[in-house]
Amino acid sequence: LKLEKMYSYVPNYLDTVVKEGTSVLDALVHLTDKEIEYKNEMASKIQITVAGFPFVKKADEYDYDFQPSVSKIQIKDLCSLRFIENRENILFYGTPGVGKTH
Ligand SMILES: Nc1ncnc2c1ncn2[C@@H]1O[C@H](COP(=O)(O)OP(=O)(O)OP(=O)(O)O)[C@@H](O)[C@H]1O
Ligand SMILES: [Mg+2]
Repeated sequence: LKLEKMYSYVPNYLDTVVKEGTSVLDALVHLTDKEIEYKNEMASKIQITVAGFPFVKKADEYDYDFQPSVSKIQIKDLCSLRFIENRENILFYGTPGVGKTH
């Protein structure tokens, strides 16, 4: 079933289940959560690779002093991705070197 994380987790996890007397249902839910978490992480990594960004930048590392025309509130709002649900386009414009690609 390609449940890689579950598979790698089971041997150690069985010890915990036995020791703590976890129910089969709780154990399965826990293992499934681990697998979902792992799959989401992998999907995110693959999407970042496929996107082919020149470099990976994180919003929480953004230097607001570098580009004072962009506010924290605006960046937070973009990070909520509500523009996707609203089917809106986001356009960055400005002279060279002001941080559009960044
Ligand atoms: N907020 C920021 N904090 C730190 N460094 C930044 C920030 N914005 C831009 N930089 C850095 O400044 C440099 C120029 O930024 P960037 O390449 O994004 O400009 P640009 O507007 O896309 O330029 P061009 O129009 O030439 O494509 C890059 O090295 C980038 O990492
Ligand atoms: Mg650019």
